[in-house]
Amino acid sequence: MIFNHILMCRPKYFDVIHYKLNSHMLMKKNVNKNLAFNQWASLRNNIERCDVKVDFIKPKKNLVDMVFAANGALIYKNKAIVSNFNAEPRKLETLQYFKYFYNKNYETHIVGFDFEGAGDGLFSHKKNHLWLGHGFRTSKESHLEVKNILNDDNLNIHSLELSNDLWYHLDTCFCPIGHNDVLLYDKAFTKESLYKIYDIYGEKNCIHVSDEDASNFACNSISLKNDDNTISTIIGNKFTSELRFKLFNLNYSIIENDMSEFLLSGGSTKCCILDIEKDIDYNKYKL
Ligand code: ARG
Repeated sequence: MIFNHILMCRPKYFDVIHYKLNSHMLMKKNVNKNLAFNQWASLRNNIERCDVKVDFIKPKKNLVDMVFAANGALIYKNKAIVSNFNAEPRKLETLQYFKYFYNKNYETHIVGFDFEGAGDGLFSHKKNHLWLGHGFRTSKESHLEVKNILNDDNLNIHSLELSNDLWYHLDTCFCPIGHNDVLLYDKAFTKESLYKIYDIYGEKNCIHVSDEDASNFACNSISLKNDDNTISTIIGNKFTSELRFKLFNLNYSIIENDMSEFLLSGGSTKCCILDIEKDIDYNKYKL
């Protein structure tokens, strides 16, 4: 996946107050709000430096998780499928994201079943493939609704079952990078789902991350293009030297952007952005 035009939400009201919305939210440590703001601002700068257009949705008081814009919706061409949150404290975000996309003239939809947007919906292969996760937050039933709304024969949609509650959104354990590589934590998936991934990517293009990299949220990274339109910059929280070496050999360069405060809520760099590109000409990018 390449990101060209994204949406972010300032962490003005960000906090971790809902115990166990996911298994990372242990609330043993308070969020350092200043540090969180600086980490988010640094992420924004790093993204903008890669020539990505960033728009902002206004944060809303009491919606402490709204900073995780990835969960607001899933965008494909001019369609915005706004999330129907499974997470009770996040349900009011739906209205905010609906209004945002409706006012920006996206064809705006909401699904009936639980669906948590781009957190459980990731594109790969020049947006020819869409991977939808289910198991913890997004329901399997919503996948058919998404498919019917997108209604595009050229888009191959795959359902992946998540089997480990630590990796509760697909974007915590599956990260398409460049055009045909993927960072992946295999312990997060059922066998059947893993084979679906191998089948499309080919096993040699699947970069398996270690337990340590998974815990550092390496699979919640952002893959961006360089100045010369080669796709090679990856922005994530932290990477082991082993993973850096692997990525370096595949011509990716790494930016580490400390996201410690957001990890307390179960999210990292990728959770803080939502791809809102209406249409993208992938042919201008070198493979
Ligand atoms: N605390 C948030 C939640 O549980 C974290 C969301 C992370 N977002 C993501 N796309 N993985 O909803």
